[in-house]
Amino acid sequence: VDRFRFSAIAHRRHVYCNPLSVAKVEQIIDLLDLPAGARALDVGCGKAELLVRLAERYGACGVGVDLSPHFLADAREKIAARLPRGGVSIHETDVARFAAEPASFDLAINMGATWLQGGGFSGAVAALSGLARPGGLVLVADGYWKKEPYTWHLEAFGMKREEIRSHAENVAAAVAAGLTPLYAAVSSEDEWDHYEGMYWGSVERWAREHPEDPEVAEMLERIRMMRDSYLGWRREAMGFGIYLLRT
Ligand SMILES: C[S@@+](CC[C@H](N)C(=O)[O-])C[C@H]1O[C@@H](n2cnc3c(N)ncnc32)[C@H](O)[C@@H]1O
Repeated sequence: VDRFRFSAIAHRRHVYCNPLSVAKVEQIIDLLDLPAGARALDVGCGKAELLVRLAERYGACGVGVDLSPHFLADAREKIAARLPRGGVSIHETDVARFAAEPASFDLAINMGATWLQGGGFSGAVAALSGLARPGGLVLVADGYWKKEPYTWHLEAFGMKREEIRSHAENVAAAVAAGLTPLYAAVSSEDEWDHYEGMYWGSVERWAREHPEDPEVAEMLERIRMMRDSYLGWRREAMGFGIYLLRT
């Protein structure tokens, strides 16, 4: 299965491709209090909803980087429809190949794509804080352990315990990296349920509508495994947190 095509189908009805609700992200947008014309970078920007909202709210100039042609087609359409005067530029490239000028952004973001910046939460925080100007903001969202996972669950899911930490440990890691936490929030169970249910449901609907799709059997196998692992243990053991930090 083409991973970007699969993800585009699974997320075709999501506004954000992560378990934070639109309302919660809106609260965070309020808290950013960006100066007019601020520069914002979003690493793994997906459909660029956050950058478009930052441009609408603050007149921020956004730079989005992502490798999914599907999400970026959606992003470009959205930018054309909602930002007639522009304001968000999109780079369709691998984050590993994207060179941004250090200390050049008022806000550097990575929502749910921390693995792209080498080393999960801490790697993303270090990379983003190098891209934000001194005194600028870093916004990072990642999974965390709500309770200790069982080894056999992790093995079956193909995940390592040390890939994520607890919510408190994430905040402590940001402090240890020299940043000041300004805010931290987590997805509620409702938000997780909504995210996960929309994910499986979108692929189940796709399969019903496109039985001829040669990848449909594999896509169904994948989302049903995700559904069972979510209901079986991830819902209890894993959370998703968002952290607003000042450099
Ligand atoms: C979990 S999604 C998060 C998207 C977005 N930040 C959001 O919260 O809606 C992860 C994103 O990383 C992107 N991605 C995966 N590998 C990438 C790479 N090597 N370079 C750039 N983007 C990548 C995916 O296309 C996807 O949009």
